[in-house]
Amino acid sequence: MADTKIITALDFPSKKEAFEFLDKFSEPVYVKIGMELFYKEGPEIIQKIKERGHEIFLDLKLHDIPNTVKSAMRNLASLDVDMVNVHAAGGKKMMAAAIEGLEEGSRGGKRPLCIAVTQLTSTSPEMLKDELLIERDLAETAAHYAYMAKEAGLDGVVCSVHESKKIHSVCGEEFLTVTPGIRPAGSSKDDQVRIATPAYAKEQGSNFIVVGRPITQAEDSVEAYRKIREELK
Ligand code: C5P
Repeated sequence: MADTKIITALDFPSKKEAFEFLDKFSEPVYVKIGMELFYKEGPEIIQKIKERGHEIFLDLKLHDIPNTVKSAMRNLASLDVDMVNVHAAGGKKMMAAAIEGLEEGSRGGKRPLCIAVTQLTSTSPEMLKDELLIERDLAETAAHYAYMAKEAGLDGVVCSVHESKKIHSVCGEEFLTVTPGIRPAGSSKDDQVRIATPAYAKEQGSNFIVVGRPITQAEDSVEAYRKIREELK
């Protein structure tokens, strides 16, 4: 069974709340920093969190012409983050350019993992057909985008736990699946629709689970984190 790692979503408005949260932990954790926090605090917050020994998934979902994505990725790699992402809808050339930029920016060191967003969970079947004019269904487009990502040299995709097995069967076991929508048994669903427990995510082969509110909003965040870690053993 997959060795499943926890990525905690640092969905906080500013560094104040983010560091108050991280201060509770005496051990290194893998965190996801999204647009909200990064656009407020800039690269400095990345450096500070890395100095404390945490790993970082910088979730900025790049999508632009290949040359621009390559240059942007060169700069992101120089921040020493551990994982970044792009929209697969930018195409194979753009994804391959992302990898080139990351390799250049890593200057011979470890390149950050690069994963693709296939279809956002906010995209409905109606939207796909009526707004984006895509006739194939959501699952088929997501699987096709995942395969394109693999062909472009990316390391994996963000997907639902329920798609993890299919993606591994299409793209190979070593192709990473990063899965949000995780809720330990008994915790609030919040606004997530299709949820899964950490144990089920592991069983389905998720390589990383992304967990936000069940940890960040818990009365005892460290205890909530450790319980999930135990469930994954
Ligand atoms: O609080 P919660 O566990 O729902 O947070 C999940 C995290 O994963 C959030 O940062 C959310 O934006 C992100 N995410 C998601 N669903 C996706 C892609 C990302 O919930 N399809």
